[in-house]
Amino acid sequence: MKGTPWQRGRLLAGAGGPRLLFGRMYEDWGIELTVLPEPGARVLCIASAGDTAAALHDAGHDVTAVDINPVQLAYARERLACGRTTEGSAEAMMRLGRHIAAAMVPAWRQPALRAFLSLEDPVEQARVWRAELDTPGLRRLMRVALRPSGALAVALRPSFADVVPRRFDNVLRRRIERTVATHPNARNPWLWHLLCGTEPPGTAVPTASGPALVCDDVVHTLEQAPAGSYDAVTLSNILDGPGPDFARRLRTAVRHAVRPGGVVVIRSFREPGPAGAGWASQDRSALWGIVRVIRLGGGRGPREDRRIEP
Ligand SMILES: C[S@@+](CC[C@H](N)C(=O)[O-])C[C@H]1O[C@@H](n2cnc3c(N)ncnc32)[C@H](O)[C@@H]1O
Repeated sequence: MKGTPWQRGRLLAGAGGPRLLFGRMYEDWGIELTVLPEPGARVLCIASAGDTAAALHDAGHDVTAVDINPVQLAYARERLACGRTTEGSAEAMMRLGRHIAAAMVPAWRQPALRAFLSLEDPVEQARVWRAELDTPGLRRLMRVALRPSGALAVALRPSFADVVPRRFDNVLRRRIERTVATHPNARNPWLWHLLCGTEPPGTAVPTASGPALVCDDVVHTLEQAPAGSYDAVTLSNILDGPGPDFARRLRTAVRHAVRPGGVVVIRSFREPGPAGAGWASQDRSALWGIVRVIRLGGGRGPREDRRIEP
């Protein structure tokens, strides 16, 4: 049975042991809180940097957070205990992209960027985005940097490079535009982090002592759990990378460990197919092509499952 490339704990090609990949998370836990409105749910989430685990715990849920990468899990444990954020591989790549953008496009330099990120009105935000940030210079730069044979594609491990959408430059610009046209920037820490590398002034690093933190492949955790042990699972984008065998094993494990009527949340970086983007436009992090929320039916197969739409 094929495993998952996430097991290597490395986003970039090359040899070596697992690394810290994510210093913070790029998933808007507001979606999880919206679909789990009643406190007290038994929720299993992916640990990553711990943000979603902390938010679910703060909302009164009983949280187990699992990560397959021991370095990432140790970091999440330390971060939730001490409230300290450090840079992982993802942040290093984004920092490089921002430096290049700032060198080429004046509106991407800190004072102008912070003024844009302090706006509250999505209509005005969309206007400023189109007029000042999404300039021909930025488009040229993104086209070159994100082309299929470009630096990003070469740097990433092949399983992850395969997930990056075609014409990712246009896709990413569209996802950012959709976000700024929908959600107030000033209250969007994910957008601040993506565009400017910092949080909005006064934002605290999440801390929580409640979540149980487990280093494991989440498929194994779910397989070993008693049937129906969870009311919900939120699985990040762990299917971006592995092949169909892993996806099948995950689906079976979820159906075993989540009770009938329970909720499954999963994200993907890929562009949506005919089934649509689901909650992606509600996710303020601006990055996702698909965010799916599913309520499991009582049967063994997917037939009785119901998609929850925003
Ligand atoms: C899927 S990655 C993507 C980053 C994520 N979207 C975020 O914003 O942090 C998130 C985390 O999932 C972990 N992961 C991936 N596959 C896993 C699996 N099968 N079991 C447990 N953790 C997994 C990775 O080690 C990583 O820390």
